[in-house]
Amino acid sequence: MVAKVIGTPLSPTAVKVLLLGSGELGKEVTIALQRFGVEVIAVDRYADAPAHQVAHHAEVIDMMDPDQVRAVIDKHRPHYVLPEIEAIATEALERVEAESIAEVIPSAKAVSATLNRERIRRLADEELGLPTSPYLFAGSLEEMRAAAGSIGFPCVVKPVMSSSGKGQSVLRGPEDVDAAWEAARTGARVNNDRVIVEGFVEFDYEITLLTVRAVDPATGRLATYFCDPIGHRQVDGDYVESWQPQPMSPAAYDIARSIAARIATAMGDGVATGRGVFGVELFIKGDEVYFSEVSPRPHDTGLVTMATQRLSEFELHARAVLGLPVNTIARAPGASAVIYGEHEDTAIGFAGVADALADPDVDLRLFGKPESYARRRMGVAVATAPTIEIAREKATRAAGLVTPLRADHDAETPTEIKPIPQTAPSPADDTDTEAMEAGTQAIRVPERPIRREAPPMPRPPMPQGPPQRPGPMAQPGPRGPVGPGGQRPAGPPPPRPGRIPPGMS
Ligand SMILES: Nc1ncnc2c1ncn2[C@@H]1O[C@H](COP(=O)(O)OP(=O)(O)OP(=O)(O)O)[C@@H](O)[C@H]1O
Ligand SMILES: [Mg+2]
Repeated sequence: MVAKVIGTPLSPTAVKVLLLGSGELGKEVTIALQRFGVEVIAVDRYADAPAHQVAHHAEVIDMMDPDQVRAVIDKHRPHYVLPEIEAIATEALERVEAESIAEVIPSAKAVSATLNRERIRRLADEELGLPTSPYLFAGSLEEMRAAAGSIGFPCVVKPVMSSSGKGQSVLRGPEDVDAAWEAARTGARVNNDRVIVEGFVEFDYEITLLTVRAVDPATGRLATYFCDPIGHRQVDGDYVESWQPQPMSPAAYDIARSIAARIATAMGDGVATGRGVFGVELFIKGDEVYFSEVSPRPHDTGLVTMATQRLSEFELHARAVLGLPVNTIARAPGASAVIYGEHEDTAIGFAGVADALADPDVDLRLFGKPESYARRRMGVAVATAPTIEIAREKATRAAGLVTPLRADHDAETPTEIKPIPQTAPSPADDTDTEAMEAGTQAIRVPERPIRREAPPMPRPPMPQGPPQRPGPMAQPGPRGPVGPGGQRPAGPPPPRPGRIPPGMS
């Protein structure tokens, strides 16, 4: 069901969207929907979440409680329900969809499948035949020990229900098994003692391939559109910087799109449901591509698209949900770098914002989260540049210039206003207003033809034979991406220590 007419918000004709989860991604989706005059209800489990601050209505509920989820949907009677996080009572969504109360985006099935690593892995591997790392599931310490022995070391253990790297460990040998089991049990969102043991993929680089399922205005049917691949760097399962486009070999790019089209299409009925943006996470080694997981919503690494694309992933999502045409045209190479809270405090401040924005190629988002933790994502710097290398430097530098301050910062930090170098745009140049406003040189990317529904694709090569044993690992843990020439791009400063308490993102 797509909206044929968009009414007036806060009136009986309004098209209404209810967001379950109101973080920084939901905030941007809300803003994109607001721009089309859609009425937005933002729901989260704590007050003053980022999307609460820009939505028409803000609700605070326990989203793991099916009765509360159902009650908030019954109260507002939205046309669309957009789950923005994984920790949601999905049984309530299944009933809402079955009773045609509202359309769940992309579908209740997709939301339930992606919140459980076992379900999404079985769907990807057993039903769709997508190449993945070798894997086994285990429900006890002894089963896990046996599974790790079969998969081989190094391997990765993750609770089946967890996100943002929580409860994840890389095991170098049998001596790591006990600690990994404990870490998985304490880091899991649901205490069900079930883990996945995955072979460690010695990938050259990893990408998010943003894939959009939206109505093609030429046919009135759903079609699949791809954004340029996004490269990213993870620390402790959490993204710290991303860039777009990630260079790929033509063969790897073809396989990546084939995998992404198939998993995204499987998130709906292939006809009308399953609309929206999907973040397809892939590992690339040479020309081999391994499916890792998929977010049935905009992806955190895709924050970079606010700078790099004509329509950000949030605008694409809003359009896809409403049944409006999309395009994935790129504007310029760019990068994003995360700004962490650094302090455990409420109502923190940010100094250095003017310094960061003195670079005309840089933009910032401060999410307005009421409470900060050392490794809580509180903002992001995005930058465009002629190359991704320069964009990464710019974004990382800008993120570093923004300094989180404790709430009582006035006492400890003198306020100093520094002059900012001015770059006046030339009024003669009207080629790209936004780029001009940012004082940047827009890179003209030729318009690509609309990408229609992906034709039946050749099955990508499966990793050979029985579960592969990854090669010896010099240093377990997250690594920087390696470009096609084998060169590691210059890395940003080492991550700041600290962990996000469970349940916070
Ligand atoms: N089998 C693997 N081999 C090598 N690296 C891996 C493997 N699994 C995960 N990683 C690394 O850990 C990161 C996080 O893994 P994954 O995406 O499965 O966790 P997550 O908790 O779902 O994180 P998020 O919710 O942030 O996506 C990956 O992006 C990758 O860098
Ligand atoms: Mg992931």
